[in-house]
Amino acid sequence: MGIVGTKEMFEKAYKGGYAIGAFNVNNMEIIQGITEGAREVNSPVILQVSAGARNYAKHNYLVHLVQAAVEDTDLPLALHLDHGADFEICKKCIDGGFSSVMIDGSKYDFEENISLTKQVVDYAHDHGVVVEAELGKLAGIEDDVNVADSDSAYTDPNQAVEFVERTGCDSLAIAIGTSHGAYKFKGEPRLRFDILEKITNMLPNYPLVLHGASTVIPEFVEKCNKYGAQIPGAQGVPEDMLRKAATMGICKINIDTDLRLAMTSSIREYFILHPEEFDPRKYLTVARDAIRDMVKHKIVDVLGSNDKI
Ligand code: G3H
Ligand code: 13P
Ligand code: ZN
Repeated sequence: MGIVGTKEMFEKAYKGGYAIGAFNVNNMEIIQGITEGAREVNSPVILQVSAGARNYAKHNYLVHLVQAAVEDTDLPLALHLDHGADFEICKKCIDGGFSSVMIDGSKYDFEENISLTKQVVDYAHDHGVVVEAELGKLAGIEDDVNVADSDSAYTDPNQAVEFVERTGCDSLAIAIGTSHGAYKFKGEPRLRFDILEKITNMLPNYPLVLHGASTVIPEFVEKCNKYGAQIPGAQGVPEDMLRKAATMGICKINIDTDLRLAMTSSIREYFILHPEEFDPRKYLTVARDAIRDMVKHKIVDVLGSNDKI
């Protein structure tokens, strides 16, 4: 099996009432940790690459590392561009071995978002690649997108239907209460299940996507801080709400921050407990294991995609 698209994964996930985890990757240890975890619980998985990850690790390294993970694990793995900002980066990934791209036109007005998304969809579909688009604005900070809490706008269900019909995008990221990063917005995090239900009723059998779905698990923030970090505690959407969303048409759930916290807390702890150690393989082994364990937890307790191969 080579790198696969997401169409079949999403069809099965929709019918089965679970979601596929889309985990951000930046280097070999992260790719290995995620795929080892997915292999241990028999789950398909999406490995996603942001523009920042692509600059950091370089396109070819990431593609070849993911191909190596396919050979090593024999898992259904999709390679996805996360938050593609323009046609050019999407084209480079479509031409360069990715099976899925996201064009994020959510910062544009409705008509501009439609025309940019349609341009990417036409090119991607001609090349056998699927496209995720985004409608609505999440609060939080990500590559080139900084939406103030007050500007965050939930996705309008009527617009979602028109958007999907006019662009032909294969999946749609919606804004229903999640936000990116560790510094989530203040206040009680909750998901707008009423909006999700409307969208699902109006777009039956259509795969929806949740970004900003890290819960910022307190145990890992506390562990970072115990070993010298100063990360302010913040609450993401609780995992049981995400699990419920996965039964309501959310087929892809994006997680990056919780992996970063797991990885960083394990390395911080290692350095404090082993001050004499400076072999990178030692602390990167505990980091890789921490990623593996976090991914298994998300798959089994949040996504429900275990034993779905
Ligand atoms: O939503 C964004 C992801 O967490 C990727 O973050 O742009 O720092 O790689 P990054
Ligand atoms: P978190 O920052 O909540 O992990 O979200 C990641 C994400 O949405 C990547 O696109
Ligand atoms: Zn995102």
